[in-house]
Amino acid sequence: MCKKTYYITTPIYYPSTKLHIGNTYTTVAADAIARFKRLTGYEVMFLTGTDEHGQKIQRIADEKGVTPKEHVDEVVAGIKKLWSLMNISYDKFIRTTDDYHVKAVQDIFKKLHDQGDIYKSSYEGLYCTPCESFWTETQAVDGKCPDCGRPVEKSKEEAYFFKMSRYADRLIKHIEDNPHFIQPESRKNEMLNNFLRPGLQDLCVSRTSFDWGIPVTFDEGHVVYVWIDALSNYITALGYGSDDTELYKKFWPADVHLIGKDILRFHTIYWPIMLMALGLELPKQIFGHGWLLVDGGKMSKSKGNVVDPVTLVEIFGVDAVRYYLLREIPFGSDGIFNNEIFIKKINSDLCNDLGNLLSRTVAMIEKYFDGVVPAQEAPEAIDNELINLALEAPKKVEAFINDLRIPEALESIFELVGRANKYIDETTPWILAKDEDKKKRLGTVLYNLAETLRFSGVLLTAFLPDTARKINEQLEAKNTDWNSLENFRGTVPGTKVVKGDNLFPRIDVDAKLAQLEAIKEAESKLTKREITPIKEEITIDDFEKLDLRVVKVIACEAVKGTKKLLKLKVDLGGEERQVISGIAKNYKPEELVGKNVVLVANLKPVKLRGELSQGMILAASTDDDSLLFVVDPGELPTGSVVR
Ligand code: MSP
Repeated sequence: MCKKTYYITTPIYYPSTKLHIGNTYTTVAADAIARFKRLTGYEVMFLTGTDEHGQKIQRIADEKGVTPKEHVDEVVAGIKKLWSLMNISYDKFIRTTDDYHVKAVQDIFKKLHDQGDIYKSSYEGLYCTPCESFWTETQAVDGKCPDCGRPVEKSKEEAYFFKMSRYADRLIKHIEDNPHFIQPESRKNEMLNNFLRPGLQDLCVSRTSFDWGIPVTFDEGHVVYVWIDALSNYITALGYGSDDTELYKKFWPADVHLIGKDILRFHTIYWPIMLMALGLELPKQIFGHGWLLVDGGKMSKSKGNVVDPVTLVEIFGVDAVRYYLLREIPFGSDGIFNNEIFIKKINSDLCNDLGNLLSRTVAMIEKYFDGVVPAQEAPEAIDNELINLALEAPKKVEAFINDLRIPEALESIFELVGRANKYIDETTPWILAKDEDKKKRLGTVLYNLAETLRFSGVLLTAFLPDTARKINEQLEAKNTDWNSLENFRGTVPGTKVVKGDNLFPRIDVDAKLAQLEAIKEAESKLTKREITPIKEEITIDDFEKLDLRVVKVIACEAVKGTKKLLKLKVDLGGEERQVISGIAKNYKPEELVGKNVVLVANLKPVKLRGELSQGMILAASTDDDSLLFVVDPGELPTGSVVR
């Protein structure tokens, strides 16, 4: 009989920087769902990979002095190592530099062009020449490049565009007719009201100002720009556009694209439109999860609050990290990563509730029955309460997972664990053990506990695979498939249990917090401050063209109507000059009078705010000018040459 299929994808990651705990979230969540589907009888295709093209990657490689391919090969190896550490069971890892992907994207681009969906025009934006980057008005910071802080200028470049608006009405109808297409619901409204209904702009899909990308076959100099390359991975990974389309036929359309909310627009608008244009079916669902926040905000290198999943796994174990990620980020909204909450959660849920339930149960079977699982006698009312909860749990968990409500699924499993702990308190096995007549009753109680633990183990398989395996090992559980949860008789009486280590040893909260803090401090000392990249090399002849002179400020006042500019009168050894300088935020006029500064004396005069500026004062500053000092040449005679 043909198995049901399930196709789940994560975004493909940029191999630009090291992945942090937030990036890890998407893939851990997708892994839990993929494992759960396999457990419940589906043939699963779980896809992840890397998005390797683009200017940013090219620039990082240039800075490192390696080729882009050498750079991505190195980072991708690290990402694969991380996924192995996190126990990610992907079926396929696609790299957008893979040959089959490159060829398929070229064919897709050509087809879209030939049928008139893609047309040639020009791309206009704010261009930063040293970085060779275009920025939009909103990306530029105070008219400067957000990457290097240098001024940007309006510029144009030949580019291809995708006529998005052609398909907008069809997409709106599809979204309205398929309420589960975009999830959660709130995100669907955001896409409809903020982007689709107001009218779609055409999307730039090729570039000529860099070449680390998939070449457009019919127009030399153009490379495919970002989203057609990246999004197509979901079908090229299945062989779409190749000679072998078996997987494509089997798994497309995807059951779910799991992504972070920041890339929702690309997945719910551009991607479906691309598919419509190609005449292909749309994915069944796009789920935009929330963000993992640290200290109430986004993680970023500059804030120094990036949480490294590898450190956490090394200290606390992979399942502790998986548990926190899966349990703490609410369905579709943002969650918080906090060391203290993380450690306390491990202690309360994993150590106290789950770990102790297993160790107490196994210890009692050893103590009272020589380690052999006793038989179950007719259940009493109190037993039925536990048994019914166990029998209900698989259905609840499955329903939650079908709705991608992972925290709630875990909650139902821990509800069962909690109920079993309460059952121990209610049945007091240590008192039953004192009375030989109650031996059978004691056996039933311990059987029910072992069987509840077997249920918990099977249910946890998808979420905490290592822990589930350890539970099964201690119980020597023989029945661990999903169907074995249909009745409460899967534990085989007579089985010998094997006491093992505590699943999650209790953590000393203060000691571990101090350890994490120390690691963070050591890392921040190691992280070099990022400096603005050094400009292109010049020769001594280029430098000789500059005429730098020591001048004395003889008068200074603010330029009316501005907060930034000062008007300086400087003495250049007999000659007077007027210079306008953007240093008003850092110097009061009176602080400068009488001071020697360095002037670029042969800079072509310009007018700033209607005032003539004959040269430029040299100053050193931080990128945002919050700290700025004019260069001090000491007490040399005015007119001295600076070289
Ligand atoms: N390459 C694109 C995706 C192309 S898919 C066809 C990309 N890559 S990424 O590396 O920047 O991001 C990968 C995933 O990590 C995205 O789903 C993003 O939302 C997610 N996250 C990045 N930071 C995150 C948090 N702090 N919290 C949760 N997820 C976050 O985007």
